[in-house]
Amino acid sequence: MSRLIIGAMVRTVGAYPSGWRVDGAHRDPRDDAAALRRTAEIAEAARLDYLFFGDWLATGPELEHREPHLVARIDPLSAITYLSALTSRIGLIATANTTYADPYALARATASIDLLSGGRAGLNLVAGADPESDANHGRDVREPADTRYDRAAEFETVLRRLWDSFEDDAIVADAETGRYLDPRKLHPTRFQGAHVRVAGPLNVARPVQGHLPIVHSGTSPRARLFAARSADVALVAVPGIGRAAELREELRALAFESGRDDRTLKVVAPVLPVVGETREHAQSIADRLTELVTVAEDWPDAPPPGFPSERSLAHLAGLVGIGLEGFRPDDPVSPGLLAACSPLGVELAALVAERTGRVVGSDAPPTFRHLVVTATVHASMIVGTSEEIAAEFAAWADAGAVDGFNVLSATQPDQFAAFATGVVPELQRLGVFPREYEGSTLRDHLGLERPANVHSASRLLVE
Ligand SMILES: Cc1cc2nc3c(=O)[nH]c(=O)nc-3n(C[C@H](O)[C@H](O)[C@H](O)COP(=O)(O)O)c2cc1C
Repeated sequence: MSRLIIGAMVRTVGAYPSGWRVDGAHRDPRDDAAALRRTAEIAEAARLDYLFFGDWLATGPELEHREPHLVARIDPLSAITYLSALTSRIGLIATANTTYADPYALARATASIDLLSGGRAGLNLVAGADPESDANHGRDVREPADTRYDRAAEFETVLRRLWDSFEDDAIVADAETGRYLDPRKLHPTRFQGAHVRVAGPLNVARPVQGHLPIVHSGTSPRARLFAARSADVALVAVPGIGRAAELREELRALAFESGRDDRTLKVVAPVLPVVGETREHAQSIADRLTELVTVAEDWPDAPPPGFPSERSLAHLAGLVGIGLEGFRPDDPVSPGLLAACSPLGVELAALVAERTGRVVGSDAPPTFRHLVVTATVHASMIVGTSEEIAAEFAAWADAGAVDGFNVLSATQPDQFAAFATGVVPELQRLGVFPREYEGSTLRDHLGLERPANVHSASRLLVE
């Protein structure tokens, strides 16, 4: 088995909806400069491959309970520019959306960050659209998925051409002769697509990595096709090891069909480990996180507008097939009640037991809140000791399910530090993650070659 790729999916106020409420957790995005710096220090000391910043181009009060990490945060390109000066080895990946971004501006910013960071920048190109982002970018009509992905494909082609504007030896800077530039080695882009038109050339030297590694995260069939044809890394959401292995096969087959070497497409899955010194300790952390999530019945009258409607006892009643009138969120689930539940209710109770140690009929039974939260907060959690979590990672890799993981942390900095200082050394001991950085660029960390400049390559063919 080759080594795992491991990056951190950074959410400064924690990736679990209640993470920010835990004692000692980072809460205030106005202090993100310090939080980002600390996260980067922890990650680089653990030799993680990259820090990854997702994005959404809008905000609103409805995010408060569902996705508090999206309410207010530093924009991803600014975050990685800032971190490029504070770090020296780790990769830095920012998300940009091809539906709304301008290709020339994005090529320019990303080439710049790659040069500033010594070849450590990466780009997560997404192609979604939503009414709020439309409204923030002056769009009246939501583009259909096919149009967005057609544009994304043109966008990716044009980014690579813009990054290839300068051949590596285009800047001569010969003080003796007075020659600064070899103009034959500066190439216009001249791209005329249905959605993207750019003349070029780009006014930034070629990135250190040639082309920045491109990640694509998406789930739809068009998203998969885009990842297989155009991305270096596919970030996929998968429910379990079996489906992940199938999806990785499918993505690699699509990549092969598109004419590329399928081994150059890496498949990475998000995961949220909850790390404790013992299994019981980890379960107690997960239990606390669960208890701190609000449900609709916590408000005496009605929950605030935009509160996730599924996070309620009424929704749970529909899921498990029994009436729950008169119950409160923190009432325990009794054996009699569990016996009356649908198979889904029994499954949920088993998942709660695995994650929190709470067993129906025991001295510490789960409450209805545990069932509601476990059913409606979708996070791919692994709860356990460092050894258990590392073994689970290795099992996924062994089964050919993934090339690596994007690690989410429920709270910052505690759970991220627990992962970095506990799970990572265990992965190193298992021989599935290196103890030292073996290269200097993000491409090196991902095991990807530096691509030749398309213009130098065609010159070689001609000469
Ligand atoms: C693990 C994962 C992370 C994602 N992160 C983001 C993100 O940060 N920003 C974003 O706009 N889309 C992100 N996406 C993509 C969206 O979920 C979705 O695929 C996209 O909006 C396009 O949807 P569509 O292909 O159904 O139109 C992510 C997807 C996955 C699977």
